[in-house]
Amino acid sequence: MGRPVKDLTTIILAAGRGTRMKSSLPKVLHPLLGKPMLRYPIDVSLNGLKAERTIVVVGHQADRVQKAFAEDPVTFVVQEPQLGSGHAVLAVEDTLRGYDGTILILSGDVPLVQARTLARLVAFHRREGSTLTVTTTRLPEPTGYGRVVRQEKEVKEIVEEGEASELVRKIGEVNAGLYCVEAPFLFSALRRLRPDNKKGEYYLTDIVRIGREEQIRVLAFEVRDSDQVMGVNTRVDLARCCEILRKRTLQRWMLEGVTIVDPHTVYLETDVAIGRDTVIHPNCVIHGKTAVGKRCTIGPNCFIAGSQIDDDVTLRAFSMVEGSHIERGAMIGPFSRIRPETRIEERAKIGNFVEVKKSVIGRGSKANHLAYVGDATVGEGVNIGAGTIFCNYDGVTKHPTIVGDGVFIGSNTELIAPLKIGDRAVIGAGSTITGDVPAEALAVSRVKQKNIAGWKRKRREKK
Ligand code: UD1
Ligand code: CA
Repeated sequence: MGRPVKDLTTIILAAGRGTRMKSSLPKVLHPLLGKPMLRYPIDVSLNGLKAERTIVVVGHQADRVQKAFAEDPVTFVVQEPQLGSGHAVLAVEDTLRGYDGTILILSGDVPLVQARTLARLVAFHRREGSTLTVTTTRLPEPTGYGRVVRQEKEVKEIVEEGEASELVRKIGEVNAGLYCVEAPFLFSALRRLRPDNKKGEYYLTDIVRIGREEQIRVLAFEVRDSDQVMGVNTRVDLARCCEILRKRTLQRWMLEGVTIVDPHTVYLETDVAIGRDTVIHPNCVIHGKTAVGKRCTIGPNCFIAGSQIDDDVTLRAFSMVEGSHIERGAMIGPFSRIRPETRIEERAKIGNFVEVKKSVIGRGSKANHLAYVGDATVGEGVNIGAGTIFCNYDGVTKHPTIVGDGVFIGSNTELIAPLKIGDRAVIGAGSTITGDVPAEALAVSRVKQKNIAGWKRKRREKK
């Protein structure tokens, strides 16, 4: 997951109101390919850079943001009220009292930056003996970002959009909002900030001007891949970010040997793993911690979430698998729904319009058409006929059904749980089974057929 960067403390800014999102959900909790935006910089700091300390500044809906990352080994600092990005970093002063090392400042709304880029930033900062290094990039459409006014390697100032003159606005180099800075300078500069701008905020970016006044070296570190440093202020930015991450994720798996037939329509969340020679057809969505094995075929329009799919599994079109385990060589779909806590064992077949919930379907067993299987343990080599319903619910509680090996369940059967069906028993089609069936027995509960000879003729004669 990347090499540790020595003697480094990370501060991640996540206290802002996120006004431009127009949302009751804090901006940094908006999901980006299944995870809250803030998860990305936190992971980069903890797992990518292995920073000695990761501090997250929260403020707007602080409780909610803190709760979302309660399990992470980070330090939360509350900024209250929220008076700007400079004020946010100053909130950390007490927590870092006595610390005189390097600080990496990240932003909760710049989620796509990669650990190796930040490791390069820190290496550059140290190699150059810089006190403050500003990450920049060049954008064809720089509107909304702070513009970087520089003189060769050195940065003279960062001018926010609102304060920028016509001329400065034409500068295509922007501040990415990621900084590497030595702690003693940082806090002394922050104490000198004044909110003398249109927004009335304490701008973190003004520490550049203060640095120049103190004649320290302020350098620019330019990132060429501007996708990595894009900031999210609106939902339009969020969608653009999601698209970048989606493409990056697909590319990674294609390079690992996975065929993605139409990369325009496939969504793989970042915790999905896929084996070689698996083929994913258009319009598939794979969520959460899901592992798909080798040589699988995932047909068009499938949805998989939090599941394990072993090697050589076929998922035909329009199938859904959630929280389940599909074993090697099983065939699912088209139009199957596998609900949580299900295990479909090796080479079993689940066909069209079959719903399986919290059940085990044994090796080589089949439920090929129109069935509901719930709270069941089904043995090996069982045939579940078309239209079979496992009646697991009595209106109050759910009950289990146990079906032995080699059982044949005729079509249109109702199995009223709790129930046990012994090995190799046969259930006649159209039966309603209310009691246990011994092994090898035939159970039939339907009304005997009677034929009334000449019935049609008699009716005609009546008329
Ligand atoms: C900021 C930069 C801008 C840069 C851009 C890059 C400033 C003044 N401007 O602009 O130069 O081009 O990022 O994306 O920094 N925050 C707090 N507390 C606050 C205010 C903000 O924690 O009181 C946090 C926000 O949650 C966010 C970050 O600081 O993570 C940046 O704030 P935001 O308001 O989004 O700044 P931008 O206008 O995007
Ligand atoms: Ca921003």
